[in-house]
Amino acid sequence: MSLSPLSAAASLATTSLATASPATGNGAAIDAEHLSVSFPLYHSNARSLKRMVFNKVSGRVGADAKNRVVINALRDISFQLRPGDRLGLVGGNGAGKTTLLRTLAGIYEPQAGSMRVRGTLNALLDPNLGMNVDLTGRENIMLRGLYNGLPRERIGQLQEDVAAFADLGEFLEMPVRTYSSGMVVRLGFAMATAIRPQVLLMDEWFLAGDANFMTKAKARLENMVRGADILVLSSHALEIVRNWCTRVLWLDQGRIAADGAPDEVLAAYLGHPLEPSPSP
Ligand SMILES: Nc1ncnc2c1ncn2[C@@H]1O[C@H](COP(=O)(O)OP(=O)(O)OP(=O)(O)O)[C@@H](O)[C@H]1O
Ligand SMILES: [Mg+2]
Repeated sequence: MSLSPLSAAASLATTSLATASPATGNGAAIDAEHLSVSFPLYHSNARSLKRMVFNKVSGRVGADAKNRVVINALRDISFQLRPGDRLGLVGGNGAGKTTLLRTLAGIYEPQAGSMRVRGTLNALLDPNLGMNVDLTGRENIMLRGLYNGLPRERIGQLQEDVAAFADLGEFLEMPVRTYSSGMVVRLGFAMATAIRPQVLLMDEWFLAGDANFMTKAKARLENMVRGADILVLSSHALEIVRNWCTRVLWLDQGRIAADGAPDEVLAAYLGHPLEPSPSP
């Protein structure tokens, strides 16, 4: 697969999706209060690591109540989102963006604080998340439909829709194990975008596909983003964040460094004012 995140990002950034869709009143909501997530390091008895932990005043690595070494991936994160909100997450590598998305998706349990996500949810976090590589593409689509509680008659429709978009030809009837990485992305993308959620969580990889595929994927992706009540998007492609989001959270070492209007937060993050947006 030829990865051209830049050209894909450039083509995606041309459409402004930051206009909030009208609040539908069905109450999609995210409430995060003082969330903290840490990962214990189970093989961390090495003396050098312990010494490093206890010599450091602040930092990502710390110790928990049981004196185990832990990585503090998120610390004291609070925010609220309501219909129409499109939140962009920015920050350097390891800042905690993916961890926050995974926590919102229910994959990680916070050690402290509370979190509430209301509304149907779709998490585009990992292309092969929830894919069984021993099953065929078609079987995976069916499972995804069942998992999302679609009635039988809708599952046939889902299979047709995904098959047409992923364009895998005879590979649709083969185990996913036999797919190239680009084919897995196509299938994952087609499946993930076939189901319309109220709350849409999106990590990075969605914006970094094969350039040809992204051209085709653009409309489908934008449609889905527009249809969602709440979007939380993590990206290093700041133009996309600027155009799609109504609010930006800058994460730094697991903490909120800034939270506010996209242009202000992005300028603070970059350390210089932004160029004016090209008028469409
Ligand atoms: N499963 C895990 N086990 C242990 N540590 C983890 C795990 N997942 C993430 N971390 C750590 O948590 C911190 C935050 O990682 P995260 O993946 O959320 O960063 P990110 O902002 O998404 O970075 P990137 O821009 O590189 O994708 C990092 O220090 C990382 O090493
Ligand atoms: Mg990440």
